[in-house]
Amino acid sequence: MAEPLGTRKRSHYCGELHAKDVGKEVTLMGWVHSRRDHGGLIFIDLRDREGVTQIAFNPEINAAIHSKAHDLRSEYVIAVKGKVSKRPEGTINPDLKTGEIEVLAEELTILNESKTSPFEISSRHGISEDVRLKYRYLDLRRSGLQENLILRHRIVQTTRNYFNRKKFIEIETPFLTKSTPEGARDYLVPSRVNPGRFYALPQSPQLFKQILMISGYDRYYQIVKCFRDEDLRADRQPEFTQIDLELSFIQEDDIYEIIEGLLVAIFKEVKNVSLMHPFPRLTYQEALARYGLDKPDTRFEMELKNLTSHFADSQFKVFSRAVAAGGIILGLNARGCAEYSRKELDNLTDLAKVYGAQGLAWIKVVSDGVQSPIAKFFTETEIQQLTKTLNAQPGDLLLMVTDAKHKVAYTALGQLRIHIGHKLGLIEQDRWCPLWITEFPLLEYNEEEKRYLAMHHPFTSPVEEDLVYLKENPEKVKARAYDLVLNGNEIGGGSIRIHRKDVQQAMFGALKIGEDEAKSKFGFLLDALEYGAPPHGGIALGLDRLVMLICGIESIRDTIAFPKTQKATCLMTDAPSQVSERQLKELSLKTVIPKLTK
Ligand code: AMO
Repeated sequence: MAEPLGTRKRSHYCGELHAKDVGKEVTLMGWVHSRRDHGGLIFIDLRDREGVTQIAFNPEINAAIHSKAHDLRSEYVIAVKGKVSKRPEGTINPDLKTGEIEVLAEELTILNESKTSPFEISSRHGISEDVRLKYRYLDLRRSGLQENLILRHRIVQTTRNYFNRKKFIEIETPFLTKSTPEGARDYLVPSRVNPGRFYALPQSPQLFKQILMISGYDRYYQIVKCFRDEDLRADRQPEFTQIDLELSFIQEDDIYEIIEGLLVAIFKEVKNVSLMHPFPRLTYQEALARYGLDKPDTRFEMELKNLTSHFADSQFKVFSRAVAAGGIILGLNARGCAEYSRKELDNLTDLAKVYGAQGLAWIKVVSDGVQSPIAKFFTETEIQQLTKTLNAQPGDLLLMVTDAKHKVAYTALGQLRIHIGHKLGLIEQDRWCPLWITEFPLLEYNEEEKRYLAMHHPFTSPVEEDLVYLKENPEKVKARAYDLVLNGNEIGGGSIRIHRKDVQQAMFGALKIGEDEAKSKFGFLLDALEYGAPPHGGIALGLDRLVMLICGIESIRDTIAFPKTQKATCLMTDAPSQVSERQLKELSLKTVIPKLTK
């Protein structure tokens, strides 16, 4: 039976007690982590958010509470009063913060009982994620998630302190707003008082922070939720948090310096790591050429090489035809992998195909030459050039991808590089390699929509000298955009913005956004640009991703207290759910989906 808390007050957290507290009278409150009965003595590990303390119930000290302790089960909530005592010699637990002491119980209050938990709070592995998400309140009691959330809190505090020191102002921007395109679908919210009209939840505060610059609030920041209805992956959530900032009267270098300072402060505070800075910079083209991806993992080498010129006239028609069609041939030396079996090579081929490649050509370098089903098509000179360019030694495996679409070849081989890097153990877990990617193209042609789309967003400034190409040769235009990459993950992106109305209009023109559409969607921005918009720029970092990397975990979900599944559902609350006919009517909405049974 649960007893009232009464006037009892907690004196310490469980994880706080040390040898220096021996002799103190304490009151602890928390959850029963485990119970062990040892020849008359009962031991409870009592847990709260700071850790665990061992409580000893001795029948010789107090028979009544010893017998009460018999009823305790895992996850019961209790208050214990007692004396901190040094553990007897031989029972000290060096793995536990409080392992030198125990509390000898003098009073026990059972504040609440608990059903048997569907999983053990103390176990770290082997529990299906669906069960963890359904019982998130129990999952959140586990030390792994607690550590992640506390580390997240420390990162947020360090961020706030840093920006305050740098004279930034934190300003909130609305959630019920108009669409801000960042390349995903919007989450829409119907307006009851304006039937047939919808708010969009912001994909980012992009336009509001620009407007704040126009209003003179130079140096804005916000730690802010963003909402994107997109296909989810391990590093994406439909609602996630950005560290968002914007400054006026600045250039790219100012942003780099501020963000480098922030990351240096965060790593020092939460990891005691001194990050090397300034961070290296790579242009987009160089990143593709060397690593195949615009978010390269530079913790290991194994760079890609361009082999196009070697095989332009090759008898191997797959190569020569691709070159004739304007395609590219890229190669990679998987050092020491000549032993790979047929099955392993098939797996690599399948992986290349996942990323759009037609296939994967491979050549094994052996002591007396090369081995490959396609070796017979190559001349001696071609093989020599190939092995020289890839710096190949006997025992190496050379992988090649060709494609008429350069991006496909880069991506497929770039992903193979990452895969093989992991497989060969080339990637050091505790190494931090941040870098900037610069000089992105402004626009990217989208085959489906048959038009150009902004590679970052439509408010990114073109490089001044390239403006002349915007109309006739848009592919040639470079953007004043930059991404921040850490260990192969994009953790931030930003740009210097367009602050002139004529340039913004030209950009909309290049995106085939007509005047009417521009006016109805972004009229307020175009108007504001006419009232003294200063040159400005900014960036947003993905907080959840940053926490994920710093915690060294695989899933962004374990950095968020209440995350969504891959299907954007919440298993604990069962959101999204159906709403009543009355609510739909109030919102002037009708659904065409037949009523679901669940
Ligand atoms: P961008 O779209 O590049 O830029 O977003 C910035 C950073 O936010 C993180 N991120 C995500 N994290 C988790 N789940 C998602 N679905 C998700 N989408 C993005 C990434 C990314 O680098 N307004 C611009 C910023 C600017 O120009 O200032 C923007 O939102 O780490």
